[in-house]
Amino acid sequence: MVRFSGVGLCYPEGGGAWALQGLDFLLPEGSFTWLLGPSGAGKTSVLGLMHLRLRPSIGRIEVLGHDPAGLPRAQLPALRRRIGVVFQDYRLLPHLSAFENVALPLRIQGVTEARLRADVTEMLRWVGLAERAEAAPAALSGGEQQRLALARAVIARPALLVADEPTGNLDATQARRVLSLLRELHRLGTTVVVATHSEALPEEYPAPALRLEGGRLLRHG
Ligand SMILES: Nc1ncnc2c1ncn2[C@@H]1O[C@H](COP(=O)(O)OP(=O)(O)O)[C@@H](O)[C@H]1O
Ligand SMILES: [Mg+2]
Repeated sequence: MVRFSGVGLCYPEGGGAWALQGLDFLLPEGSFTWLLGPSGAGKTSVLGLMHLRLRPSIGRIEVLGHDPAGLPRAQLPALRRRIGVVFQDYRLLPHLSAFENVALPLRIQGVTEARLRADVTEMLRWVGLAERAEAAPAALSGGEQQRLALARAVIARPALLVADEPTGNLDATQARRVLSLLRELHRLGTTVVVATHSEALPEEYPAPALRLEGGRLLRHG
């Protein structure tokens, strides 16, 4: 499902330093994995490789059965659409309502208006935002914005979901709520990867973990 083989990453603007080095791991289909490590360890970089915004400087990655380096450029968007991303800073579109933010991936796919209405309404209900459909993102609390970002990431039913510090800016109650949604997605069969610098979170939901430090993997399991 997700395989890294000898992966290293060197940012062009990074002065030649390796952000990631010697990463080897396999995340099975349908797994839930914590991506742990302190700030600067390389978590966001690993997720960037997984959702195909970054390419390894060395080594190979395989995502959903494809090596993106071996894929014709024209096929990359289709592969990306099967990967849901929850960015650390949400990246909601401020001029669109909550409803339209979630609807956007379906509009891009040309889904009919009737099906779109039904799917987005159901998704907003699932994340507990049915009453907030017409609100602008700025009018939502941090926890609500995070759940909206999650709704947008999964509306197109991705096979792989990667979430970057999805509880980082939330209080304990909101964090637990977001985490329970991620767990439910996992139960429904989605492969889920959650990056966090928190040690408390994985204790609440024990699952296999990749632990990064200084761009290297400490242990897997
Ligand atoms: N766009 C970039 N350009 C140069 N260096 C970067 C860039 N993004 C991240 N880095 C460096 O890569 C390392 C890992 O960063 P990151 O993946 O953001 O870690 P984390 O998400 O665990 O905090 C850090 O040393 C960081 O400074
Ligand atoms: Mg990060």
